[in-house]
Amino acid sequence: MSQTARLSLQGKEVELPLVVGTENEVGIDISKLRSETGAVTLDVGYKNTGATTSAITYLDGEKGILRHRGYSIEDLAGKSSFLEVAYLLINGKLPNKQELAEWENDIRRHTLVNEDMQNIFKSWPTGSHPMGQLTAMISSLSSFYPSSLNPNRTSEAQGRTIKRLIAKMPTIVAMIYKKSIGHPVIYPNNNLDYVDNFMNMTFKHVTEDYIQDPVVNEAMNKLLILHADHEQNCSASTVRIVGSSHANLYACISAGIAALWGPLHGGANQKVLEMLNSIKDDGGNAAKFIEKAKDKDDPFRLMGFGHRVYKNYDPRAKIIKKSCDDILNKMGVNDPILEIAKKLEEAALADDYFVERKLFPNVDFYSGIIYRAIGFPVEMFTVLFAMGRLPGWIAQWKEMREENQAIGRPRQIYTGEPARPFVPLDQR
Ligand SMILES: CC(C)(COP(=O)(O)OP(=O)(O)OC[C@H]1O[C@@H](n2cnc3c(N)ncnc32)[C@H](O)[C@@H]1OP(=O)(O)O)[C@@H](O)C(=O)NCCC(=O)NCCS
Repeated sequence: MSQTARLSLQGKEVELPLVVGTENEVGIDISKLRSETGAVTLDVGYKNTGATTSAITYLDGEKGILRHRGYSIEDLAGKSSFLEVAYLLINGKLPNKQELAEWENDIRRHTLVNEDMQNIFKSWPTGSHPMGQLTAMISSLSSFYPSSLNPNRTSEAQGRTIKRLIAKMPTIVAMIYKKSIGHPVIYPNNNLDYVDNFMNMTFKHVTEDYIQDPVVNEAMNKLLILHADHEQNCSASTVRIVGSSHANLYACISAGIAALWGPLHGGANQKVLEMLNSIKDDGGNAAKFIEKAKDKDDPFRLMGFGHRVYKNYDPRAKIIKKSCDDILNKMGVNDPILEIAKKLEEAALADDYFVERKLFPNVDFYSGIIYRAIGFPVEMFTVLFAMGRLPGWIAQWKEMREENQAIGRPRQIYTGEPARPFVPLDQR
């Protein structure tokens, strides 16, 4: 195969080098295009634009493949712990026993947050959305750890910030939940592992013992792994672009959380449950909502359906669907919402509109049903997604910084007014 692409532009021929990835995916390197021709590329929404090379995650949307550092998502979700996957994403290899023990131990020792962080909650009105609270809490960590503002710290110091973030995220998430229901905060218990600790901080009452449910905790572990990274999506790209200005890591992650919040991205899991509830309240007629989703004059979309890159099936949805059935059976949950979800899925998968556009249920379609069965309120769903995505964001940020990538600064094609003389106020 030729190693260049040839572009003919206004009578001028330019050779553009090709970049070929491990899985033979081909990119046309246009980094010299503007200097050689004066032209830029235009790709609103970046549907065809590779923003970086990356060795973290491989995704083939047509074949439904997702791998982290070469390991399939099926193996990782079935055989490893969330912290093992976090190590893999961030450090590029699976940890051996000693490395894993050290990693877990280091993270365990950073779980407490500064007591003053509790004061931040006092200023928020009741009912503030947990995602808004999470962006603020994560960003505020930079005030508690001001050394993180220095972009040229040693890798050891960067490593501490990374461990702090991973350790404090569940503490902060559980704190947001406890504050939202007016309950006292439960402090971390460093004898517990990552997921058990999070469940304890979230569901234990200060007045009672909390009995861990291994079925629930295993589902939580799997959900966190399934969300851990997804290459150059909206929030990961946000983290990279904010980080490219050398902003501190807490600010970058906070920006990633903000990007995740939107209903077209991580916010979809909350929207799925709200949609299923409104279908239930409307009498449970799935077909009616399928028609609404197809109607171009109706803004309604089937939440949890469709994906920018998966055009066959979402491998995470396949794993999670099975897990969803298992956990609901084991917990003996008989949820009418699940029946509606199944009806909706069957109807959509048999409908030409969805088949032609390759719209399949994505990970968010099922995750909400599991979160609900576990006992999380809908407003917490996207926060749980953020907790899972954290190691992916960190890995993307670290790769970008280690490669010393230039500040992200897209170009544009200006379509506004040409130069015109200023008109004084009394003549307008
Ligand atoms: C994920 C999503 C943003 C991908 O968007 P995208 O790659 O830009 O795809 P488009 O919006 O161009 O959609 C392509 C076509 O499918 C339709 N479509 C996409 N998702 C749809 C949905 N959930 N319900 C109904 N129609 C949908 C679009 O209207 C468009 O139809 P057209 O070709 O007739 O104009 C989009 O599928 C969506 O909004 N899904 C619902 C939100 C969601 O679940 N997000 C979580 C993602 S993990």
